[in-house]
Amino acid sequence: MSASIRFLMCSPHHYDVDYVINPWMEGNIHKSSRDRALEQWQGLYQIIADHATVDLIKPQPGWPDLVFTANAGLVLGDTVVLSRFFHPERQGEEPHFKTWFEEQGFTVHELPKDLPFEGAGDALFDREGRYLWAGYGFRSELDSHPYLAEWLDVEVLSLRLMDERFYHLDTCFCPLTDGYLLYYPPAFDSYSNRLIELRVPPEKRIIVDEPDAVNFACNAVNINRIVIMNRASDSLKQQLAHVGFQVLETPLDEFLKAGGAAKCLTLRVTEPVLTEKVATVAYESRTIKLEGHLLDSGLINRALDVITDGGGSFQVLNFDLGVQRQSTSRAEVRVSAPSHSIMEEILSQLIDLGAIANPREDQDVATEVVVKDGVGPDDFYVTTIYPTEVRVNGDWIRLQGQRMDGAIVVGENAEGAIARCCLLRDLKEGDRVVVGVDGIRTVRKAEARDQRSSQEFSFMGAGVSSERRVELVVEQIAWELQKIRSQNGKVVVTAGPVVIHTGGGVHLSRLIREGYVQALLGGNAIAVHDIEQSLMGTSLGMDMQRGISVRGGHRHHLKAINIIRRAGSIAAAVEQGILTSGIFYDCVRHNVDFSLAGSIRDDGPLPDTQMDLIAAQADYARLITGADMILMLSTMLHSIGVGNMTPAGVKMVCVDINPAVVTKLSDRGSVESVGVVTDVGLFLSLLVQQLDKLNVPQAVR
Ligand SMILES: NC(=O)c1ccc[n+]([C@@H]2O[C@H](COP(=O)([O-])OP(=O)(O)OC[C@H]3O[C@@H](n4cnc5c(N)ncnc54)[C@H](O)[C@@H]3O)[C@@H](O)[C@H]2O)c1
Repeated sequence: MSASIRFLMCSPHHYDVDYVINPWMEGNIHKSSRDRALEQWQGLYQIIADHATVDLIKPQPGWPDLVFTANAGLVLGDTVVLSRFFHPERQGEEPHFKTWFEEQGFTVHELPKDLPFEGAGDALFDREGRYLWAGYGFRSELDSHPYLAEWLDVEVLSLRLMDERFYHLDTCFCPLTDGYLLYYPPAFDSYSNRLIELRVPPEKRIIVDEPDAVNFACNAVNINRIVIMNRASDSLKQQLAHVGFQVLETPLDEFLKAGGAAKCLTLRVTEPVLTEKVATVAYESRTIKLEGHLLDSGLINRALDVITDGGGSFQVLNFDLGVQRQSTSRAEVRVSAPSHSIMEEILSQLIDLGAIANPREDQDVATEVVVKDGVGPDDFYVTTIYPTEVRVNGDWIRLQGQRMDGAIVVGENAEGAIARCCLLRDLKEGDRVVVGVDGIRTVRKAEARDQRSSQEFSFMGAGVSSERRVELVVEQIAWELQKIRSQNGKVVVTAGPVVIHTGGGVHLSRLIREGYVQALLGGNAIAVHDIEQSLMGTSLGMDMQRGISVRGGHRHHLKAINIIRRAGSIAAAVEQGILTSGIFYDCVRHNVDFSLAGSIRDDGPLPDTQMDLIAAQADYARLITGADMILMLSTMLHSIGVGNMTPAGVKMVCVDINPAVVTKLSDRGSVESVGVVTDVGLFLSLLVQQLDKLNVPQAVR
């Protein structure tokens, strides 16, 4: 027995499953046997007493979980950080543990109220005493970690728990003697797994698989080379034996009903203090401001989800609720993250939602100079579709050429500082590129109540009276097309070949002829199919009138390409009288610019198809500039491409039969995008009908 090692335990005289605060307790209320629990606890007590000294705390009626002494607090030397339980069901244990620690002469630190931390259940020393692994995500708050670092003078490594079954760190993670680690990786997020891998070399990591994990093999007590646990598979025992550990099994299934086992039932109260003081924690915290229809539009929920999903934690410092329906609300939220990189990741997403990352008014953007053409600094800020402003020399300036997935280059001209969006490939040596998230804000239109939920209209889907809803959205689009035309605005259409197969070509032609379309974007296919239909009456060999395939019709496709190649271009074929109808004929005749971007699937291609993709992207960008509306008609590839280069503020209408495509395209968080799930041919025919109605002269009406 090693007298220098001491544990605190509590007999299960009042143990039972009285409530549900973890998934293990579900269905187990009052299903545990006190006698069996006592017997099992004594089994564990005996084994531990054979190898260490055991102190006891008096069980208390009404506090069934007091038996899990691991949650009393976290001890190092003669200092203890007392637990602050997350659930009210356990908060009454705190004074009992506090009294015990004080009676033993410990210096007791207490965390601020409302800052949960569940002791050695969520904080485990590396057995060499080099650092403290601290869990968060379910019970303990990340914000408690800096206190642990300060009070215990240790380096704290924060680990985020992801699986509710492993709600405390000690249920899935057990540091062992000599720097070994027994753990269940799926219980952690990827950042935490990376951190573990950085600190613990592969030969020291003993990975537990799910069957052992759910038997609480990681909830083990380690005393030198002995590992005491509820149950272990033969392979785990062998693995541990291989590196010099002996497993002692002792059944604890009565306690598993409450979500605890060997480690939970004990608290090691002798943890050696390292002489070298290293109080550090990678933890960071920042305050953000959010303004808008925070509740109605769900913005506050989304912001808080971004923080927790990203691995951070938050505290709402202020919330000013707008009192009128139209008035906006304001919130100030403190965001904390376990590392600088996670903080930046979370903050950039919050900036997308319109948050200001640093409400301090004195923060300019940080920049780094490009040292190689076409390559940005590591930490460059990635732009979004939202109008963005950066703070340079104390002034907020609007970005030029806003688009998604670019970098921000800051420079000077005669009038002062300027900032522009720049694709990575266009960066030049010497450019000053914005890094980090300071001094950046996006300007977003306030989203109104239920605005987001009404953005998708389903026609083919099983929605209630969805047919009428598509008609309604078509009415609105027709009205806007009409308005844009009367104001000499710009409508850009992106179209895929399905427009032709579904008989929508004639309608699109009409829109072009009648001046509703100012530019057409697509791939090789839409043009080939349109021209094939115009020259031969088929589309990919299908007779468009009769809806049947024509013998040898598949050759039509290549013949159409060949004819245009011979003419030199689509425009030349029109001039030579070869092409006399169709979408592209109308584009040429009515001076509507079009751009065809090539792809690996393309047959031919047509001479007009731009196979240099960088040139094609530039051409698309040129044609999109100044658009008031973009109609995306059944082409995922080209629509996504266009979506990425379009700034917020341009109305986008996406029509596709596949709801997933519509969601992907309209889910840019932009209030201006509308998705319509329907057949594109039908959509176009409804649209021209509606425009006809709008154009009926007053007298006739
Ligand atoms: N012969 C050729 O050269 C040839 C042929 C086909 C495609 N391509 C090229 O391949 C690339 C991708 O082609 P794409 O744009 O056709 O494919 P895509 O997969 O990007 O998009 C087709 C979209 O149409 C939707 N759709 C299907 N039926 C519909 C209907 N009835 N109503 C509404 N939506 C419907 C689908 O859900 C899908 O999202 C393009 O660049 C294209 O030019 C070339």
